[in-house]
Amino acid sequence: MGVIERYKEYLPVSDKTPVISLEEGDTPLVNAEPIAERIGKGYNVWLKYEGLNPTGSFKDRGMTMAVSKAVEEGSKAVACASTGNTSASAAAFSARAKIKCIVVIPEGAIALGKLAQTLIHGAKVIAIKGNFDQALDIVKELTDKYPITLVNSINPYRIEGQKTGAFEICDKLGKAPYYHALPVGNAGNITAYWKGYTEYKEKGKIDSLPKMLGFQAAGSAPIVEGKVIKEPKTLATAIKIGNPASWKQAEEARDASGGMIAKVTEEEIIEAYKILANEVGIFAEPASAASVAGILKKAGEGYFEELKPGDERDIVCVLTGHGLKDPDRAIKCLDHPPIVEAKLEAVLKEAGL
Ligand code: F0G
Repeated sequence: MGVIERYKEYLPVSDKTPVISLEEGDTPLVNAEPIAERIGKGYNVWLKYEGLNPTGSFKDRGMTMAVSKAVEEGSKAVACASTGNTSASAAAFSARAKIKCIVVIPEGAIALGKLAQTLIHGAKVIAIKGNFDQALDIVKELTDKYPITLVNSINPYRIEGQKTGAFEICDKLGKAPYYHALPVGNAGNITAYWKGYTEYKEKGKIDSLPKMLGFQAAGSAPIVEGKVIKEPKTLATAIKIGNPASWKQAEEARDASGGMIAKVTEEEIIEAYKILANEVGIFAEPASAASVAGILKKAGEGYFEELKPGDERDIVCVLTGHGLKDPDRAIKCLDHPPIVEAKLEAVLKEAGL
């Protein structure tokens, strides 16, 4: 069962909505002791592993809604700008809905797995000599002028679908976490999670709301710097965005929740990326690791207060995309395997046995 069917009472759908689903959502909330040990002070750390969605990222929650509503409204085509995951998801759901999908991407800035997905699902992919922010401007104009539905997260149905991530976390924990950490790019997901928690509280499903902790890459941190970044830079290409579309909503989520939006360096992202893979056993893409990098950094700065014995607090980090999306990055930050003679002795020697 996909997220529309599971949470339809919270979503703007009716019996007439043609549900285009790939059985997205219902992703695991994995306990992460190696991270909790580093935070110390009695905190529990959970990882919402969104890489296990059908196209390998959280975007599928929003895309099932956006494409279902587009089809309901009679649209024959959708379009998006993307740093890769939105396009992979839009392409897959459009294929399933048998509608056209147009994708505008920044040339050379999309991880290989994401580009492969977008192409194999049959989207029309156009690379521009520019960045994500410019691609989004073009797609906004395109969808204003032609009968094509925009499926970036400024489409409100995307946010509606993505808020189901918050519902799942609360359903699993039986309450909201104390802190909710996630990477921030175009700022749709922080907006969506905050909406989800707020609505669950209004409906009496939870008593309290989490503090929202958003993390941007240091070279692409417009919200932290308080200004548009003309040439954003980061190895976490998914969040290489200099002018987030949901900037204001992200600030509202931060302020209303008593949380923060801060930045993490490339080194901190890679360190968290390796800890996740080496010690927790989860391969997440670099942008996802920014959430973990962020809480580790804040712990180092003494942000998390010491809990009284017996007290418990949950920190949930969203791991937004699968590590296999960006195989080049994993290979680049590790040693290449040695090549030896095809003999047992040579393998034993190299294995140190
Ligand atoms: N993590 C991953 C893996 C992403 O792909 C994105 C955004 C984010 C985090 C940030 O989420 O934009 O809602 O703040 N990717 C978009 C894309 C921009 O085109 O795939 P956000």
